[in-house]
Amino acid sequence: MIAKTEEDFNGLKEIGKIIASIRDELAQRTTPGITTKELDDRAGELLEKAGAVSAPKGEYDFPGYTCISINEEVAHGIPGHRVIREGDLVNIDVSASKNGYFADTGISFVVGEGEAVLTKLCNAAKMAFEAGLKKAKPGSKKSRIGKAVFETARQHGFTVITNLTGHGVGRKIHEAPAHICNYYDPWDNEILKEGMVIAFEPFISTLEEEVFQKEDGWTYATEKSYVAQLEHTIILTKNGPIIVTL
Ligand code: CO
Ligand code: CO
Repeated sequence: MIAKTEEDFNGLKEIGKIIASIRDELAQRTTPGITTKELDDRAGELLEKAGAVSAPKGEYDFPGYTCISINEEVAHGIPGHRVIREGDLVNIDVSASKNGYFADTGISFVVGEGEAVLTKLCNAAKMAFEAGLKKAKPGSKKSRIGKAVFETARQHGFTVITNLTGHGVGRKIHEAPAHICNYYDPWDNEILKEGMVIAFEPFISTLEEEVFQKEDGWTYATEKSYVAQLEHTIILTKNGPIIVTL
């Protein structure tokens, strides 16, 4: 969407704040021994308390309030009986709506002590996010964001996932612009607009560049790579980006 009115900005900030606090509480509760279902149940309670509706459940009939992906899983992991262990790479993605406004946020992190490469990978996702954010300006080409993400991944000795992308958000969970790629697409001539609301989510990978969908019909995974994501909902303005999910 294009945020124009005070009501738009306030509505986006409200849902942004709700899902950011749920993301942070879930990340804090992610300790060895807990199941992904236990984390998701807590998210369900918190959403209800805040008067918000899970976007994956409400819009796509996803079997969970949030998406929780572990190790070889990259995105859209279904909360269930999988037990989280020390050293796991975990991604928690929370998206929801309130009063007709949608926001989307996600974070990857390592549980306790893990392999050094995983911490490096999460850090690279954060750096890629920051590099892309600098290019997220009204009047600029959208493709410059992906270029910055890809270059940052390479600088850290990693690569990117090419078939998962960021997207427009705001009045729906997925809307125009349809794709914010993790690489430079020379054919993408779209110009970013004042007030444009995007979910920017670089996916940085240790090896593979594509995910496949598992037999459960939801989970995106790799064969043998690790992938880290960082996602925020952002309103682009001439005075700089407003991150509503900090
Ligand atoms: Co998300
Ligand atoms: Co998203």
